[in-house]
Formats: sequence, C-alpha cells, structure tokens
Amino acid sequence: MQIFRTKTTTPDDFSETGLKKCLSAFDLTFLGIGAIIGTGIFVLTGIAAATQAGPAVVLSFIVAGFACAFAALAYSELASAVGGCGSAYGYSYAAFGELVAWMIGWDLILEYGVATAAVANGWSGYFNNALTAIGFGLPEALTKAPSLGGIVNLPAAGIVLILMVLLAIGVRQSTKINTAMVFVKLLTIAVFIGVALFNINPENWNPFMPFGWSGTSPEGKPVGVFAGAAMVFFAYVGFDAVSTATEEAKNPQRDVPIGIITSLVICTLIYIVVSGLLTGIVPYTELNVPSPVAHSLHLLGINWASALVATGVIAGLTTVMLVLYYGLTRVIFAMSRDGLLSPFFARVNTKTHTPVRVIILCGLVIATIAGFIPLGELAELVNIGTLAAFVLVCLGVIVLRVTQPLLHRPFKNPLNPFFPLLGAFSCGALMAFLPATTWLRFTVWLVIGLIVYFAYSIRHSKLAGKSE
Ligand code: ALA
Repeated sequence: MQIFRTKTTTPDDFSETGLKKCLSAFDLTFLGIGAIIGTGIFVLTGIAAATQAGPAVVLSFIVAGFACAFAALAYSELASAVGGCGSAYGYSYAAFGELVAWMIGWDLILEYGVATAAVANGWSGYFNNALTAIGFGLPEALTKAPSLGGIVNLPAAGIVLILMVLLAIGVRQSTKINTAMVFVKLLTIAVFIGVALFNINPENWNPFMPFGWSGTSPEGKPVGVFAGAAMVFFAYVGFDAVSTATEEAKNPQRDVPIGIITSLVICTLIYIVVSGLLTGIVPYTELNVPSPVAHSLHLLGINWASALVATGVIAGLTTVMLVLYYGLTRVIFAMSRDGLLSPFFARVNTKTHTPVRVIILCGLVIATIAGFIPLGELAELVNIGTLAAFVLVCLGVIVLRVTQPLLHRPFKNPLNPFFPLLGAFSCGALMAFLPATTWLRFTVWLVIGLIVYFAYSIRHSKLAGKSE
C-alpha cells in the first residue's frame, strides 16, 4: 500500500489527487482482514462473555455480524457508485450534503482515533502477558488506566507513539507486510482452534445464556446477548477502512465491494468458531482478563500454545492499529483538503511524503487516550460512533436511489430499500443497547463537532459551490 506518495510511474497509475492506484481485490480483502480481526475477538470476547452474554456471546457475534452485513452492502453500493476519498464521509456528502457529511467525518475521526486507542489497550494486555511469562512483568500501576486502579497504561500509550514515529517518517505498511501479518494472525487463530477443539468441556456451555437476551446488571449497565452484540460489534469495526482506500484501488468499482464483503464474511465465520470454542474450553466467568485467548490456553496448562498465541496477537494487533491510524489520517486529510478542517492538516511533508502534522497530532491525542481510559469504555464509544455512521450510510443508499436514480451503480443492493432499511434498523437497535454514559460522551462529541462546523468549516468549505 502506497500512501501519500506522489512520485514515479505514469499518470494513469494515479488517482486525481495523486495517490497511486495499486491495490487489487485481493489486497483490499487482506487490508480488510488486517483491520478487522483484532482486539474485538482477542480481548472483548472475554469481557462480553464474562460480564454480558456468557457462552451466548457466540449469538452476540452473529447478531452484530448481521447488522454489519447489511451495512457492508450499503457501503459496497456507495463505494462502487460514488467512490472518492474519505469513506462514509465522501458518500454522505453525495447523499445528504455538507452538514451531514461533516458530522459523519467528525464521527469517523472519533471511530478511527478511539479505536486505535482501544486496540492499543488490547495490545498492551497481550504484551504484558508476554513480559510476565518471561519474568519481566510491569507493575500493575503502569498497565492500567486510573479508573481501574492503575496510574497509566504505559505500553498502550507507548505503542501508539512508536507507530506515530514510524508513520511520520514514511515507514508504512506495505501490501506485502500487511499480507504477511494477516497470515500470522490467521495462523495464530488456527493454532488456537486446533488446540481448543481437543479440549472442549460441554459443561462450560451450560448455562448457555446466563444473562438472557437483554437485561440490566446490578450496576445499571445493559447485559444479555444484545448488549454483548453492541460490545463485540467492535470486532467488526474496520471493514469500512477498505473504503478509505478507494482512491488507491486499481478497479475500485469492482474491487472495493469484493474486498468489503469477502473480508467481512471470512471474519464473521472466524468469530463464531473462536468465541464458541473459547467459552467451551474454560468457564466464561474466567474470561474477564486482558488477554483471554492466551489465558484460556494457560488455564488448560498448554503454555506453548498460550505463548505462541500471545506473540501472534501482538503482531496482529499492530496491523489493526496501523490500518485504523492510517484511516484516521486519510479522513482528516480529506476533510482538510475540502476546506472543512484547517489546511494546516492537508500539508504533506516534502521529505517524507506523509502528512506529518496530522500524524503527530493524532498520535499524541491517541496515546493520551490509550494511557488513561480503559478498553471497555473506549470500545463502546467507538461502537456508538460507528453504528451511527452505518445508519447514515444505509439511509444514504435509499436517499441516493431517489435523488440520483440514473447514477451508474456497478454494485446494487437487491430488493432496495429492504436491506438498507434492515441495516439502519439493526445498527440503530444495537446503539440502544449501549450504556447511558456512552450516549452522553457521543453527544458531547457531536455537539463539539457542530460548534466547529458553524464556527469554521461552513465558511471555509471548498465544496459548497461545486456540488450545486
Ligand atoms: N475490529 C478491530 C478489532 O477488533 C478494530 O480490533
């Protein structure tokens, strides 16, 4: 993947904005898998099983998978018809105009930025697990956020800063490295599945649904299969990152839908198998730990597999963070290029060919968030933002079919508006199962977004005249 690089080869190899068109459907599928499989399956499955859904977390994955599938169809239609840079931000501009597009872009900044911090937290859990295994475990105060009784999650903040430096100096994930990392991740999962298959104790699946479909915990938080789905939805976040690479795809109208849908299908199948096995090999109550997959193998006494899985996860989560961090800088870059954010962010460094300012600013903010806010809260915030974006993308399909019926749509949702409506409904319903504090934080973020829009963006937009 060549990002922000604007030299060599012929003009046909570049998009209008100078980004190189080099990604095939295969690369995009791998980009998707690289972004999707991460903290969601390796960490949140444990938290969701232990605190919200029990072994029925497997149903939570299916529910969340359906909501994503409908949204993926909507994304695919818009990616193929509208294309352009900036993911849902670009699509919503075409469907709803500038204000909604701005809110979606603002929402995506939250999604990718906070998701990077959340994955850094998951990375930290496995990293500490590995350090402890070789006798160099960090003191607890340096591995936990203050609200969990620590001072700072140092490894989580540290890995973000390392990635920031790498991205800023232009070391980017090449397609080859991404592909290699995805293989490592799949191999890690294969090892887990191979070992777990021979260690299932069906008693662990009983009771299967200790929290029911939906309810409230003594602390007042939502529990049950649906609340679990609203939490593990995080595991699917990232498939939309494929669409942020639309400008770099060789044949975006065909390949982006293929990339989105194939990566989502593969990941859903993996999630169902892994979550089913995880709750089958140890009691779900044991899984509320920072590295549940490695921990479960450790509980079975299979330490070699535990160490191998932990190493694979550490490598795999690094890919996820890179793709999300990349997606974040691309969205900010696009919004800045369109005049909605200051041109300060759109400048590409002449030496490194990377938008260094955006990378550093985002890195510092994400590292702070990763160090001081715990994973569960971050994941819920990401989910509400992403679900809101999905609702609008689904509605965008319906609106565009009415307002621009003649638009060429290489990929079309069958039975329109059935699937986009199902998508908007299911994503909206999952939002309802997120805690009140998450809603509050999300509202605050949106209000800040509106203030920025009316104080700055509306007067600096370069797009306003063009779209009419
Ligand atoms: N889906 C990504 C993960 O689970 C964000 O880490």
